[in-house]
Amino acid sequence: MAYTLNINGAARTADVEGDTPLLWVLRDTLGLTGTKYGCGAGVCGACTVHIDGQVVRSCVMPVSAVGKGKVRTIEALSPDRSHALQQAWIAEQVPQCGYCQSGMLMAAAALLKSHPKPSDAQIEEAMTNLCRCGTYPRVRRAIRRAAGMHVEELA
Ligand code: FES
Ligand code: FES
Repeated sequence: MAYTLNINGAARTADVEGDTPLLWVLRDTLGLTGTKYGCGAGVCGACTVHIDGQVVRSCVMPVSAVGKGKVRTIEALSPDRSHALQQAWIAEQVPQCGYCQSGMLMAAAALLKSHPKPSDAQIEEAMTNLCRCGTYPRVRRAIRRAAGMHVEELA
């Protein structure tokens, strides 16, 4: 069946089964490979995108459930890496292998939208994505930096 989706502000059509995960539509059908496959079970967050501004794990979202929702992927976070989070990610040298990072950024972007100056508890609560490289402290620093909050200098 053909599904017409709103992806990063444009109408995109995918002729797939209704139970196809949105992740595979993004990656395989539409070629948006910035969104990653990790666990396929809604656990790791590597596949995080936004639908209507809310964080969604696209590996467990059937394409038939997307409807008219506005899907935003890492490719649309900014046209030129100018998003405050991208700048902070570079400044704090957050990525290691990088695999989890697009999901991290999308989760962080949703957090800052709802909480422009998040508390440590709010960061903790929102950032449930997994990182096998252990970048969690740098992720927290980068979020604080992007929010214009104090970031301790590293010794
Ligand atoms: S790949 Fe979707 S949560 Fe892990
Ligand atoms: S940077 Fe390697 S998994 Fe997170």
